Amino acid sequence: MNPPIVIAIDGTSASGKSTNAKLVARALGYVYVDTGAMYRTLAWHCLRHRVDVEDPKAVAAACRRWNTSLECVDGRVRLLVDGYCPEPEIRTAETSAAVPHVAAVPKVREWMKKRQRECVRFGNLVMEGRDIGTHVFPETDYKFYLDASLHERTKRRHADGVPEDLASRDQRDSQRAAAPLMIALGARVINNSEMTAEQTSGLIIEEVRQRLGGS
Ligand code: DC
Repeated sequence: MNPPIVIAIDGTSASGKSTNAKLVARALGYVYVDTGAMYRTLAWHCLRHRVDVEDPKAVAAACRRWNTSLECVDGRVRLLVDGYCPEPEIRTAETSAAVPHVAAVPKVREWMKKRQRECVRFGNLVMEGRDIGTHVFPETDYKFYLDASLHERTKRRHADGVPEDLASRDQRDSQRAAAPLMIALGARVINNSEMTAEQTSGLIIEEVRQRLGGS
């Protein structure tokens, strides 16, 4: 049997990774994995248990001990904590502010990488994040890096009702020592400032289909 195919979609905040990854996964019948949600889930768990997110040792200890499982429901991977999958809770301003601290802890990134690689047991994947093509699945032949102008991305976040200082988030994601946001070698870079989600996902789907041998 052929090994599962992994499509890695990385990029800056609000560059359309989630929307496009979901569209690509649906079109190809692949499983969608939102790795940002996994980091957010750990940040939420730390806040809930009064773990100081600015203390890397405390965060690493919480990550060693939390009781989690992965499941795939309706073509989408979910990370459960004590059998519960937090959803609205991981999108609050408080969790968003905590998550870059958690995501900068090397032990956390190691843990996440292991869990993310385990997702291939669910089948072919479209995995979105910041380090999928560079660290999690560096061996995949299907790497995409999305970006858009800061102006456009800020507009998109406002339209989603979550105004955020994207420039400083990008800076933190790109400058951290552990698995910083970078364009993976061989990744196709798509600047979608002037493109719709259908156009962006269309480019990705077309390229994957061509490389898979046409369809
Ligand atoms: O994509 P998002 O906004 O849900 O990501 C939340 C945070 O997690 C963001 O600060 C970047 C970080 N992240 C990461 O470091 N590596 C990933 N693979 C995914 C997200």
